Amino acid sequence: MFQPHAMLLLLILAVLGTPAFSTETYYGTKTGTHFCTSVPEGQNLTGIRMYVRNSNIMGMQMQHGGNWGLLYGYSDGNPLELILGDDESVMSVYGTYGYYIQQLILSTTRPRDMYFGNTRAKNEFADSPQNPSHELLGFCGYYVRGGLRAVLPKWGSPGGSCKE
Ligand SMILES: *[C@@H]1O[C@H](CO)[C@@H](O)[C@H](O)[C@H]1NC(C)=O
Repeated sequence: MFQPHAMLLLLILAVLGTPAFSTETYYGTKTGTHFCTSVPEGQNLTGIRMYVRNSNIMGMQMQHGGNWGLLYGYSDGNPLELILGDDESVMSVYGTYGYYIQQLILSTTRPRDMYFGNTRAKNEFADSPQNPSHELLGFCGYYVRGGLRAVLPKWGSPGGSCKE
């Protein structure tokens, strides 16, 4: 599932320009159950798991300090995982959505890219931290029974929390 598209993602970020860096915009439609993935005190993000059914992202789960946290959404479909190495962090998120969030591509400092979902949808976004020392802490979002309707990547200092 790893594909060497980090340069392409950086190019997309550059082309999309300023709107891509507005930090508090949900991508998709804010409807259904709201969540923000929790961060255990002082722990770094060490892995990300998403469940993909057909072309929808159904649920997501974060791993901190080697322990998996709560599942947000549903464990339907294929579980896909990105396990981060020591000193590796996620530095950009690219995604596409139609009615549901269909695809999220996470780009890490290694660099490498992890694809969650392979079916592109018509709306696309790219998001990165405004402060280059920040990294992905987790996500906020909205889900319904059919899948995630909206996501918001949360950026901050390592060990920070993931509030609205
Ligand atoms: C979290 O990451 C920071 C920066 O990489 C590091 O200094 C710190 O030791 C890490 N914390 C834990 C609990 O691993």
